[in-house]
Order: sequence, then structure tokens, then C-alpha cells
Amino acid sequence: MSIIASNFKTNHTRKSTASFINEINSFLKSNEITSEVIVFPTATSLDSFSTLPNLTIGAQNAYPVEKGSFTGELGTVQLDEFSIKTILIGHSERRHVLGESQDEIAKKYDFYKSKGYKIVYCIGEPLEVKEAGLDKTLEYVYEQFDGIDVNYENLILAYEPVWAIGTGVTATNEDITSVHSAIKAKIPKPLLYGGSVKVGNVKEICALEGVDGALIGTASWDVEDFKQIIENTKDL
Ligand code: 13P
Repeated sequence: MSIIASNFKTNHTRKSTASFINEINSFLKSNEITSEVIVFPTATSLDSFSTLPNLTIGAQNAYPVEKGSFTGELGTVQLDEFSIKTILIGHSERRHVLGESQDEIAKKYDFYKSKGYKIVYCIGEPLEVKEAGLDKTLEYVYEQFDGIDVNYENLILAYEPVWAIGTGVTATNEDITSVHSAIKAKIPKPLLYGGSVKVGNVKEICALEGVDGALIGTASWDVEDFKQIIENTKDL
């Protein structure tokens, strides 16, 4: 069964997020779809949504504290208010745009692991590494597991090649299967693919050997497209 996750990044408002989540919840209910669906709204749009057990709301990011003096950050006190127990860690935009180091990411991972959160942990290589070949790609990706307890029971991995994120360039099936099979041989955890996944390619990608679902940005922000993505993968 596929895991389909939507990363809102810096999109949607409180109002549009609430209507998106309600619509997806009704869609899952009326079509009796049992896929695991996760939505990561912006921090300002988190709330106590009442959803089916297979529709989970997660945080895109939070600081590794319960509360304290960390201007601009969230801790578990703020997430507990909405019973949020799922978090995205290691996303390439946080690594490369916001400058989070592997050390900071590992600390965050450890903290949220200690709190029992479901962690969707992202890895992926930039273009110049991909161009250096599969061995270099795997070497780079494995370094992103430094300090990460890969045996954690509540771990979902997401392989998102940086060059495929938001670019419209999806990795080829061959790119995906070679990296996925190598990671899966080392770490037997659910492994999602992310990077320019859309309505038209999600089924083919999620049906590939070693792919357990998708983490989707751009193509998931339109609720009709996201419904179609869920529909296209519901029988996998
Ligand atoms: P796009 O689907 O926009 O390429 O983004 C992928 C992603 O970064 C999801 O976390």
C-alpha cells in the first residue's frame, strides 16, 4: 500500500489548508481509500483537524525543544496543542537553502525520535553529485545518515534528488530504482520518492520496485490534483 505525502512548503493559508484537509478527508472516506496520506501544512496552518486514521497532519519543521527561547521556531508544546506527532526532517530546502547541517539535523532527529514522532527523513544528492555517477550518489546519500538511528521503528525515508525538486525534471525509472534498491538493501524502511512527481507519473513511479510511495510538493497543492494522485495510487 502506498504512502502519499504532500509537502505544502510555503504555500496555502490557514483557510485554504483547512478546506484542503477537509476535502481530502471526505474524498478518502467516500471512496473508502486506505492509502496512508500525510499532509505537511505551513506552521501557521497547523490545527486540530478531525481526520480519518489514515490521514495524518505533520509539521514541516520544528526545533528540538519542548519550549524555550528560540525566536521563530516551534517546539513540542506548540505541536502537542494540535496532537501533531509527525515531522519532516532533513528536507533538501532546509539543508541547502536554510543551511541546516547534518549535525543539527541529527540532533533534531534524535530529539523527535525520543518523543516518539513519526519521522519522514529526507535524503538526496545535488546535480553535480548525480553527474559524478551512482557510486558518488550513494556515498553522498549515505553521509546523510550520519548520526541517524535508521533502526527507529517510526521512520519513513524519502529519497528526493535535489535536481528533481521543483524543476519539472523527474528522475528516470532507472535512476530511482538503482538508488532505491541500494538504500533499501541497507535500510529496510518504507522509502518514498520525491521530485517532480505529478498526476501523470505518480502511478508508474510508485509501482517501481523499492518505491513505497511519494512525497510531493508542487503537484499536490491543488486539491483536485492531489485527489487524482491518491486515486491513481490507491490500488498499489
Ligand atoms: P516537487 O514535487 O515540487 O518537485 O517537490 C518535491 C519535494 O521537495 C517534496 O518534499
